[in-house]
Amino acid sequence: MKGVVFTEFLELVESNFGMEVADRIQTKGSPKDTGFTSVGTYDHRILINLVVELSQETGMSVRDLVLAFGKHLFQSFRRNYPETVVGVTNTLDLLQKVESVIHGEVQKLYPDAELPRFRFLPSEDGNFQVEYISARPFADLAEGLIEASIEHFGDDLKCVRTDLEGMPGTHALFYLCPKQ
Ligand code: HEM
Repeated sequence: MKGVVFTEFLELVESNFGMEVADRIQTKGSPKDTGFTSVGTYDHRILINLVVELSQETGMSVRDLVLAFGKHLFQSFRRNYPETVVGVTNTLDLLQKVESVIHGEVQKLYPDAELPRFRFLPSEDGNFQVEYISARPFADLAEGLIEASIEHFGDDLKCVRTDLEGMPGTHALFYLCPKQ
């Protein structure tokens, strides 16, 4: 997993829980002397360890922490790659662009990036369904990113998640329908 995800996570921890907590979870959750750099690539299980350590430090659930991290990551992607969202006016557009363009560009730039796939499925009631498929268990992160996007664009949408078969967190369906 790209280092930018780790550096963003530690930045979130530092700003919300302080430097000491950030140092402590790094000492406990990552192999000795792992100095994360945004251009490096690290085992995604280290991120899971860091979140589990943070959950123990704060008493917050892993799921809530990862959802919050998804929201933070959305703002960071928007800040750091503003060109990717030019002309995008809502979450459905963004998700289609993430699948058809954005993640593809990320992959070209960093051939070792590990990205999920999003598949758009018809829904009988005319709403949208997006299937998340990944080799890594980050459906909570995807959910946080989608929730952040809905907030950002002010879409009249709610996101209802159903987990699908496979390793927990690697395969999920996001059903996007009007709030009411
Ligand atoms: C709502 C929009 C988005 C969603 C739902 C989404 C979803 C995700 C998820 C869930 C991951 C973690 C890896 C996995 O699940 O297998 C990921 C990784 C990543 N995404 Fe996105 N993404 C979105 C937008 C963006 C944007 C706008 C960028 C900007 C360039 C971006 C760049 C990346 C990068 C650099 C990674 C790390 C790849 C790695 O760790 O190797 N994503 N994305």
